[in-house]
Amino acid sequence: LMHTKIPEGLQKLPGPKPLPIIGNVLEVGNNPHLSLTAMSKCYGPVFQIQIGQRPVVVLSGNDVIRQALLKQGDEFAGRPDLYSSKFISDGRSLAFSTDQVGVWRARRKLALSALRTFATVQGESSEYSCALEEHISREGLYLIERLHNVMKADGSFDPFRHIVVSVANVICGICFGRRYSHDDNELVSLVNMSDEFGKIVGNGYPGDFIPFLRLLPSTAMKKFQDINSRFSKLVKKIVNEHYDSFDKDNIRDITDSLINHCEDRKLDENSNFQVSDEKIVGIVSDLFGAGFDTISTAISWSVVYLVAYPEIQERLQRELREKVGMERTPRLSDRTDLPLLEAFILEIFRHSSFLPFTIPHCTSKDTSLNGYFIPKDTCVFVNQWQVNHDPELWKDPSSFNPDRFLNADGTDLNKMEGEKVLVFGLGKRRCIGESIGRAEVFLFLAILLQRLKFSGMPGEMPDMTPEYGLTMKHKRCFLRMTPQPGFEFPGT
Ligand code: HEM
Repeated sequence: LMHTKIPEGLQKLPGPKPLPIIGNVLEVGNNPHLSLTAMSKCYGPVFQIQIGQRPVVVLSGNDVIRQALLKQGDEFAGRPDLYSSKFISDGRSLAFSTDQVGVWRARRKLALSALRTFATVQGESSEYSCALEEHISREGLYLIERLHNVMKADGSFDPFRHIVVSVANVICGICFGRRYSHDDNELVSLVNMSDEFGKIVGNGYPGDFIPFLRLLPSTAMKKFQDINSRFSKLVKKIVNEHYDSFDKDNIRDITDSLINHCEDRKLDENSNFQVSDEKIVGIVSDLFGAGFDTISTAISWSVVYLVAYPEIQERLQRELREKVGMERTPRLSDRTDLPLLEAFILEIFRHSSFLPFTIPHCTSKDTSLNGYFIPKDTCVFVNQWQVNHDPELWKDPSSFNPDRFLNADGTDLNKMEGEKVLVFGLGKRRCIGESIGRAEVFLFLAILLQRLKFSGMPGEMPDMTPEYGLTMKHKRCFLRMTPQPGFEFPGT
């Protein structure tokens, strides 16, 4: 970038002066969401840093991010060619790989349509409005039983450990038509390692930017490669089982529907589709991976916030008692009647900003933003955390206050305020699991809150300092729970 000639009328990007070899790595530090937010105050909403030898443009501020991702969407829709991405889904990930635009677009369309079909299709029981609701309700109830048993045996529980298995089972149901027991070692140990994944991808791994660091032994990198290969092995095994029992007249789940798409395509001789079978069926890895880590992180953070803010927990439980009662399990259609729960979830997304940056983007051609020149193939970080904590957009941004999303008398959600929260990205690369994600966080929390009251260990407050990664996690902790008045655990 430094040696590129800047076209007339455009300016060179501002930013801190880089050191030789390492660039600005020291200033960026271990909490890039905080350091890059601080830099945006000094250099403005579009600035450049250098990580190792690689220039990276950092975008902040609602207006600039909307301009780049919505108005100039095509120019900012690429993914950078990062060393760590090659290990994800054997380099064939829909979300992380540098697929050509046409290939990515075709895969994304297929993924979206498969998700839509298998989430909204009618489930096995007519008691539920759709398969998604059925999977979540069943897993929510299993989770309560599981937490009850762990409490009985140990007197406390590690929230993330159990939530992640329940959430993984929902996406497993949709993608693979199966669920796993909470005692299944293969799945439990894999999903419980997802924090090791997030530490490397995204903006976290200096080796992506400073090639010689890849030569040094790195425990985090080793764990990252291990989790990726275990993950691929598990998915390959399930996909092979699907090929063996495939019946085009009985499409059971997303994996079947993707296999069917490949078969149909082979019959269509005029097809000029150039996406390999592996890239099509491989979409299921992205859906599975993205579908459990993000949502379980959101729900686990929610439980920790409930413990840290007991008066908010009590208000949420009162809302559930009044609007849903104790006689039936909450449903997705209760969303409009539970504005405080919806506001609480928005505030969890905003305050924790547990996806502080989107997945890194990359420019697909020479472009400009705010009068600054940005050449083709420049890596771009989009700082969602900054938008969610911008004092220009939020009153007292550091305080946790769900009421900011409610109208004055607390009876309705203020949708305009809600739309300002940035957690799913925007534009061409916007998350394709957004509606599933929002629905799942809502229904799991409604089911848990209806029946359980969460608390910390006596005399201890949960540590709310996030651990930086693609998805930021809270520190592993132990919590307690008791049944809500009017609810009895089965068998007690
Ligand atoms: C991409 C957030 C749930 C599938 C993304 C991105 C974000 C995000 C920030 C990157 C956007 C960008 O690069 O600009 C979330 C959050 C979730 C969630 C906060 C839950 C609370 C899900 C679920 C699925 C999913 C449930 C699938 C079942 C994907 C995929 C991409 C993606 C495939 C890549 C899209 C692309 O590169 O074209 N998500 N996500 N996500 N998400 Fe999600």
